[in-house]
Amino acid sequence: MMKKMTISKILNAKGNTPLVMITAYDALFAKLFEQSADILLVGDSLNMSFAGKSDTLSATLEQMLYHTNAVCSGSPSSFVICDMPFGTYMSKEDALSNAVKVFQQTPADAVKIEGGADKADIVRHLTSNGIAVCGHIGLLPQSVRSEGGYKVKGKDEASALSLIEDAKAIEAAGAFCMVIEGVKADVATRVAASVSIPVIGIGAGNGVDGQVLVFSDMLGLFEEFTPKFVKKYLDGATLVKDAVATYAEEVKKRDFPSEKYIY
Ligand code: KIV
Repeated sequence: MMKKMTISKILNAKGNTPLVMITAYDALFAKLFEQSADILLVGDSLNMSFAGKSDTLSATLEQMLYHTNAVCSGSPSSFVICDMPFGTYMSKEDALSNAVKVFQQTPADAVKIEGGADKADIVRHLTSNGIAVCGHIGLLPQSVRSEGGYKVKGKDEASALSLIEDAKAIEAAGAFCMVIEGVKADVATRVAASVSIPVIGIGAGNGVDGQVLVFSDMLGLFEEFTPKFVKKYLDGATLVKDAVATYAEEVKKRDFPSEKYIY
């Protein structure tokens, strides 16, 4: 059994070896990821790759609770963060009552909330009530409709300064780490240097304190769309399709099940 990551170990990672975070949505994959990942993120990205929706906005708290429980069951020794879905933290009161549901109905270690300085009071309300919070700044997938698309941040100095302000506000509100998404690499490096909690990047270059990728993207399983920052470590879609095609062919030819596979 692996030794479980803790918040103090995550904080100590600042300035040391980069943290490895990967999304996980079920027990099967969580178990496969646990030996290499420091943190498993039950991201609301599951609404796209697993539920087939075009964005994350319709993910529900019930969905997140179900998948978080599955991930925690598959890998009880992993540090697990549950994404708070869109609409569940519009006010401090809603945020707390929904985050309490996450903590009471799953063994998750922390929740993640999208937003910068504008969400600092909500983050503070959670952290001061015993909920560990991972922030999420930069490109915010839950704002895709209001922003009219996924827009890279930090393209000018004003945007860079506002990201630094966001990171500082989230740190001051008591978050133990934050994700920074879709930000020019040099700016993300400045953001990470401006706070003393780990800043974990996705599409934010190599100067931050860790990396996170959506597992179905990095295993090449999600074919709809591949962002520029995704490295495919496996051609999962081809492997799966070829395997199922071989199975189908063998069934049709009555080659499967052969002697070896029958009672
Ligand atoms: O939902 C998710 O998978 C995320 C990652 C993109 C960080 O928030």
